[in-house]
Amino acid sequence: MPKEKIKRRSFLNLLLGGGTVAWLASVLFPVFKYMKPPEIPEAVQSQVTACTLAELQSTEQNYKTFKFGRKLGIVVLLPDGSIRAYEATCTHLDCTIQYRPDLNILWCACHNGQYDMTGRNIAGPPPRPLEQWVIHHDKASDNIFVSKEEEA
Ligand code: FES
Repeated sequence: MPKEKIKRRSFLNLLLGGGTVAWLASVLFPVFKYMKPPEIPEAVQSQVTACTLAELQSTEQNYKTFKFGRKLGIVVLLPDGSIRAYEATCTHLDCTIQYRPDLNILWCACHNGQYDMTGRNIAGPPPRPLEQWVIHHDKASDNIFVSKEEEA
């Protein structure tokens, strides 16, 4: 077989292989791009309205959850009438915590994780305390505002 014919065959194989790879890339790239979820930046919020004091007092368990950006928060009415707010996501495996007025603790039902009313983890598997947020009750509107840090 002449040497030139082998070169031509190699060239055609290379062309066919390259064409196949290019075709596969043109089909798969849009599929992967469609499947990858778009990045959504977290909304920067420094303060939210959790609820009104009247709404909080009308709850059976003296707590209410609310959205703070992409996080979930919990606002609690304590027996002494004070109000506190925390991030409501358990530091163990991200379950939502609840307030247990009978024990005066924040409780995670998933694995019986317990936090005291400062947010400190006191029993169960949670490895870290809950983040406690700052609340401000506006008496005029009855709204309970929650922010992540004390305003200067
Ligand atoms: S997720 Fe809360 S204790 Fe496990």
